[in-house]
Amino acid sequence: MSQPAVVHTIADLRRLTAAWRSAGETIGLVPTMGALHAGHVSLTQIMRQKTRRTVVSIFVNPTQFAPNEDFSKYPRTFEADLARLAAAGVDAVFNPSPADMYPDGFSTTISLSGPATAGLEDRFRPTHFAGVATIVAKLFIQAAPDAAIFGEKDFQQLAVIRRMARDLDLPVEVLGAPTMREADGLAMSSRNVYLSDAERRSAPILNRAMREAAAKIRSGAAIEQALHAARTAIAAAGFEIDYLEVRDAASLAPVEKPDGRALRMLAAARLGKTRLIDNISLDD
Ligand code: PAF
Repeated sequence: MSQPAVVHTIADLRRLTAAWRSAGETIGLVPTMGALHAGHVSLTQIMRQKTRRTVVSIFVNPTQFAPNEDFSKYPRTFEADLARLAAAGVDAVFNPSPADMYPDGFSTTISLSGPATAGLEDRFRPTHFAGVATIVAKLFIQAAPDAAIFGEKDFQQLAVIRRMARDLDLPVEVLGAPTMREADGLAMSSRNVYLSDAERRSAPILNRAMREAAAKIRSGAAIEQALHAARTAIAAAGFEIDYLEVRDAASLAPVEKPDGRALRMLAAARLGKTRLIDNISLDD
């Protein structure tokens, strides 16, 4: 098992990727905030099939957390992450410091509309996507990858990044990868470690209720009626629901009834102090 190169500065990352590029090698980027789980490993596996070189960035990006969110307690497990990435066979890990990414005087933020203002995550985390888009644009410019991959679990984030790359003419192919789930259906997330044992037992009810609602809609039930039953089941399991909605999968626009377009059901709900998000296709 070969160890990935670990680079901590933008200058070192540029040197490494420039050498690969001049050797004619393609580069794939897997942006992460660390606390890696099997979902992240699956992203590296997809990328290793796609490009000759794979770089994983690990950076807990302060600008995508609001002051009341979990930036300081977000799990940081760098040594374990590195061991996982070595086993996964990635070529390099980019682990910059906040001072390198946001030097004194940093004043530029990407301003977003379109999918970033769809009224889902943005309603509850109004500054989140500007922070995500800004750091992802910086990573795209720093690593200049041919392709980058993001999990579909953050479905709105993926739409925001695709739109941003297209609008800013960033020559990166943005790939989405299916959500990895625990055996009981809970979507894998670095934040699942916050769940108490009792909450962990209740957590899969979110996905179960969504799947049941999706099945009803597929067999002809009205969307709002199916969602109402799901909201009742989710709330009964102790969740506080931020949203549970069916949207157009491409534009994220609200949908009242199925009309042949690809549809996505998206949810965010809090269980104790942990906020879980999930989404499923209605077309499967
Ligand atoms: O999805 C994440 O882990 C983060 O939002 C990302 C894309 C790495 C940007 O910090």
